[in-house]
Formats: sequence, structure tokens, C-alpha cells
Amino acid sequence: MVKICCIGAGYVGGPTMAVIALKCPKIEVVVVDISVSRITAWNSEQLPIYEPGLDDVVKECRGRNLFFSTDVEKHVAEADIVFVSVNTPTKTTGLGAGKAADLTYWESAARMIADVSKSDKIVVEKSTVPVKTAEAIEKILTHNSKGINYQILSNPEFLAEGTAIQDLFHPDRVLIGGRETPAGLKAVQALKDVYAQWVPDERILTTNLWSAELSKLAANAFLAQRISSVNAMSALCEATGADVTQVAYAVGKDSRIGQKFLNASVGFGGSCFQKDILNLVYICECNGLPEVAEYWKQVIKVNDYQKNRFVNRVVASMFNTVSNKKIAVLGFAFKKDTGDTRETPAIDVCKGLLGDKARLSIYDPQVTEDQIQRDLTMNKFDWDHPIHLQPTSPTTVKQVSVVWDAYEATKDAHAVCILTEWDEFKKLDYKRIFDNMQKPAFVFDGRNIVNADELRQIGFIVYSIGKPLDSWLKDMPAVA
Ligand code: UDX
Ligand code: ADP
Repeated sequence: MVKICCIGAGYVGGPTMAVIALKCPKIEVVVVDISVSRITAWNSEQLPIYEPGLDDVVKECRGRNLFFSTDVEKHVAEADIVFVSVNTPTKTTGLGAGKAADLTYWESAARMIADVSKSDKIVVEKSTVPVKTAEAIEKILTHNSKGINYQILSNPEFLAEGTAIQDLFHPDRVLIGGRETPAGLKAVQALKDVYAQWVPDERILTTNLWSAELSKLAANAFLAQRISSVNAMSALCEATGADVTQVAYAVGKDSRIGQKFLNASVGFGGSCFQKDILNLVYICECNGLPEVAEYWKQVIKVNDYQKNRFVNRVVASMFNTVSNKKIAVLGFAFKKDTGDTRETPAIDVCKGLLGDKARLSIYDPQVTEDQIQRDLTMNKFDWDHPIHLQPTSPTTVKQVSVVWDAYEATKDAHAVCILTEWDEFKKLDYKRIFDNMQKPAFVFDGRNIVNADELRQIGFIVYSIGKPLDSWLKDMPAVA
């Protein structure tokens, strides 16, 4: 029986291994982690991450051929294939601070593999890491090999949160990069055999190591670039009276461009986009390509601009001050159908409003109060460390209350900011919300999910990203 061990039971490792176990009943899959609380949760009824469809997959396989354990060394030692899916934070100090990936956790995982291994292993890079990491890991392993053979593969993850299980069931492609030596090709084939249990052959692409590593960064950079492009257009739409949804639809009808990923928003978030682009920028700079680095940097700059623009719009519309005004924030996760808040635009928007002394009442169907308080007090980039190493917040932000109902959040508020596109926010009773709010009552829709005309009929002043402005908003321009 082939044995797989995955180091890191996070958003990537957990769902990916659960689906491998489901689709390959003859393979034993063990997911290991240094975080006892994470593993305990994976073994409980309340999984540590919210992902539609994940519960069913775990229920079917757990205890059969899917196991979660903190006994990292034992399971790594026994495995034929070791996936590594540990944290790769952005460095905050030293060389490359603010851009380069910190490979501390990766390196310690590699050294541990070298220490405990007694048989040949295929080591698969699953976390997003900079190009040439595989080579670095290979060096650590071969210099400590004790006669054991290691093959390093890069098998980047393309799943998107909220649809992770469907993405894993029906991937657009699976990418496997390896050495182009006989042993390397054999290792690629071994991993290909795993995916071939449910993924059609033509969707499994094999490349050299560096192409696979770079493809992941490139794919995320291209996706993020589309969002920054449409968000840049949204600013121009507001200035000219065009409607960004109509523009995006017309643009996307060109089959060379396509309709997907053209929704204007308050900004993109998530653990990958910003981090991967910063990595790309750093790699370009290190390779003497400042123009290329500058080009990709703009994608992040436009994203930051979009978040600032939103805050400025809120404050400017409300007589240039939100001091002591209650503002309801609906949605804190970086997208719907996930409880994940990593790099969510809500953090910057909330911090911006708090900077203007607003009182915030936040509701998100999947994000806990503790998480929101931690996100609002944590330093930039601190989120990307194992939970037990993250700074715990000694203080809470007093102007923030977290409630468990959209109606409670909006009661007596001056404004509502919609920051995540949860389906339930489309179906709220906005008349009831309006009746319980201060007047004039504002809705700032950062995801373009409400029917602005209906809300205007009720009496709201409505701002929708990239849409023609209400006369109220035109009279109160946001100056950065
Ligand atoms: C992304 C990639 O899609 C995935 O392939 C990769 O493996 C990991 O990074 P993820 O971050 O989970 O996945 O979610 P994604 O659906 O890509 O959304 C990222 C951000 O962009 C979210 O904040 C989302 O709200 C925003 N977004 C997306 C928009 O603002 N507009 C869009 O049209 C699409
Ligand atoms: P991702 O979104 O890439 O899955 P996460 O932060 O959700 O990232 O998960 C990474 C996991 O890796 C965390 O649960 C962390 O505790 C774990 N981890 C980090 N370093 C090690 C290590 N050396 N051994 C085992 N687990 C580790």
C-alpha cells in the first residue's frame, strides 16, 4: 500500500489530502501538524476550516484511509510520498523584508524529513514558494541523505477557497514539475498515478521543476491582475457615469478575454494573491529585472488604492467625518463561503474607518469575534505563522463589536458597508434595516450584490463600486 504523509493540516493540506484519500481508497493518507489544536479539530465533528462539501469527504474517509496526527516524525518516516504544505510567510525583517518568502518552516520540515527518513522518498512541494525552492530543499536533503534517495517534485495547488472540493474533484489542470532525469521522471509518474485515479490524463501536465513553481506564481499574478484591471476601471466608471458591470460584461464577451474574474470589488484578499505577487516582484528584482518587478507591483498598488478609495468614499459621503458614528460592517471573510480572513480587504477598510474614529459593528456568518479582534490588532504579515506562534492580542479594539446577526449590526447605524458577497446579504429585509437606522441611511456596497434601485426606493443613499453615482455622492467627492 502506498503511504502518503502531508506535513501541514491547513487550508491546502487538509482538503487536498481528504480528496486524495476519497479518490484513492488503496492509499493511506496521514495529515500531520505541529499544532495540537488543529489536529484535534480535524479529528472532531467541528473541522478547523469551513469549506462546503469538506465535512462529507472527511466523514467518509476518516479512520478508513485518512488520518490526522501530531506524530509528525513517525508518519513522515513511514511515508513513500511526503507533501509539504507548511506556512511560507512574507519576511518582515532582514533581506527581502516585506517581499521575500520566509522559508523557516519549509527548511525545518526538510531537515526533519532528512533526520527521520529510513527509506527513499518523494518530497512534494505543495505550499506556494518562490522559484528555486525545490532546488534549495533538494540540497538540504541530499547533504543529509545518509544514502537515502530523495526526489523533489513541485505540485502547486490551484484550488480556490469556498469551492476547494469541487476544484479538487474537477481540476482545470494538475501540474507536476520534476527533474528531467530517469529517477525524476519516475517520481513524476508515481505522483501522476495518484491523480490519474480521478483526473483525466490530458489534464495532468508535467514540466520541469522551475516551470511548475513559476506557473503557480504566474497564474495567481494573472488572476489578481484581472481584478486590479477591472477595479481600476471602476474608478473611471464612477468618474464618467459608465457602469463597470456593463463594461466588464462587454469586455468579457470577447472570447479571448472571457467573463470570469471580472467582478469589481473593494479589493482582492486571500492568502495567495498579494504574497505570490510580492514573491514574484522580489524574484524579478533579484534577477535584475526592475521593470518587470515594477509592472507586477502595480497590481498590488491598485488593490491598496481600491481599499483606500472605498474608505474615503464612506467618510466623504458622511460629511467628512465618521467620528463616533456606528457603522455596520457586513462580511469580514475575504470572499464568501469561507471563514478565512487572511489579507481580507475588510481589515484595511475597518482600520481606515477606525482611523477616522468610527464605531464598528461587524457581522460575518463564519468569522469569530476572536479572529476579527486578532486581525485588527495584528501587524501586517503576522497572520502567516502557525497558530501557536502567532501573537495573541493582549488588547481588543474597543470601538469594535462583533455581533451574530445583520439586523443587530445595522440597528441605529448611520451606514452599512458590505465587504463580503455572502448570499444571505442579498436576501436581507432592507426595509426593516432602513427603519432601524439613523438618517440619512447609507449603504456602501463593496461587492455589488444589492439591488441599488430597490434600496434607493426604500430611502437609502447607495454607493455601488464602479456604478453611476447618486447625486448625494456626486456632491461629496472623495479626495484622497
Ligand atoms: C486563489 C486562486 O484562485 C487559486 O487558484 C489559488 O490556488 C489560490 O489563490 P483564493 O484566494 O482561494 O484562490 O480565492 P479567489 O476566488 O481566487 O479570490 C481571491 C480574491 O479575489 C477574493 O478576495 C475575491 O473576492 C476577489 N475577487 C475574485 C474579486 O474581487 N473579483 C473577482 O472577479 C474574483
Ligand atoms: P495553507 O493555506 O497553505 O494550507 P495554513 O497556514 O492553513 O496554510 O497551514 C499550514 C500548517 O502547517 C499550519 O497548520 C501549521 O501549524 C503547519 N506547520 C508549519 N510548520 C510545520 C512543521 N514544521 N511541521 C508540521 N506542521 C507545520
